[in-house]
Amino acid sequence: MPVTHIQHTAAWREVLTLSKLKAGERVVILTSVNSNPDLIAAATHAASDLGAVVVRLDIPPVFDLAQLGTDPTAVTGASPIDGNPVAIEAMKAADLVIDLVFLLFTPGQKEVLASGTRMLLAYEDPETLVRLVPTEDDRRRVLAAKAAFHAGRTMRVTSAAGTDLRAEIGDNPITAEYGYVDEPGRWDHWPSGFVARVPNRDTAEGTVVLAPGDIILPFKSYVQSPINLTIEKGLITRIEGGFEADFMRQYIEDFNEPDAFAISHLGWGLQKRARWTAMGLYDKHPTIGMEGRAFAGNFLFSTGPGNGRKTRCHLDIPMRNCSFFVDDVPMTRDGRVIPSDQIAN
Ligand SMILES: [Fe+2]
Repeated sequence: MPVTHIQHTAAWREVLTLSKLKAGERVVILTSVNSNPDLIAAATHAASDLGAVVVRLDIPPVFDLAQLGTDPTAVTGASPIDGNPVAIEAMKAADLVIDLVFLLFTPGQKEVLASGTRMLLAYEDPETLVRLVPTEDDRRRVLAAKAAFHAGRTMRVTSAAGTDLRAEIGDNPITAEYGYVDEPGRWDHWPSGFVARVPNRDTAEGTVVLAPGDIILPFKSYVQSPINLTIEKGLITRIEGGFEADFMRQYIEDFNEPDAFAISHLGWGLQKRARWTAMGLYDKHPTIGMEGRAFAGNFLFSTGPGNGRKTRCHLDIPMRNCSFFVDDVPMTRDGRVIPSDQIAN
């Protein structure tokens, strides 16, 4: 679906308006060699149209030998602004940073957010952005899911394929992404629509069975044959199956970091307009597979950092047809979201 610059810029105007961008506010557009020129142009035009004072800040990328491919989500823990005080000070001086590089929860980013700067990440291609412009209803549903998640002390995920995973929750904050930044210090990612939370350390126990059609990111592949994961005390202790199990195990092992086998954030997708099939229609570059993370009803399983565990290896694994329970109350049932007004708690 071709998208004109006019449509693309209009989508940016809408998201920046939802983000309460006002005339006279200061906007930094953060770019690097991996930034999409179409996004740079549209974001610049939209922010300027809204009367913002716009600066583009272009920084060199981080080069990490551990990273395969071009996907910036593949390696976590470091970003180009860390150790770059000029970049950090410029971003702290802004009201809103538009991140077209992909920073994710690194020290420099946390420092910028703590200053009150709001930060919006966008990386997908223009047509995906235009298809998935966030709405106020997205925000309402994501925040309702966050409230239900926040109230719980245990979680459980089951599936007919054999998944049965339990964990305690409450020690770690919830990431609730609805796609725009309407409060000081807020970070979000367009497109998105999900809630996620790292369970309490060492408490995840059970089995996760990746079934055909589940998505492994950053591999950007649909699982073809089942992969059985055994999880004990918050760590994956066995990965069993065919070729894809071997591939996953080898990919994680190659980081040579024991924490790479830890369980990271768990949650569920809420974005009705995101499509499970989308990833099959796009090249691997430049997408990061956000529709997969966000499509409504997916169980977003992940591995790697959290609870003080440090590793550069991070997999996001959206799974279909699962039921997600918080304190035994279903949030999704067989891959379908239970509407927030029907959650019995
Ligand atoms: Fe993740």
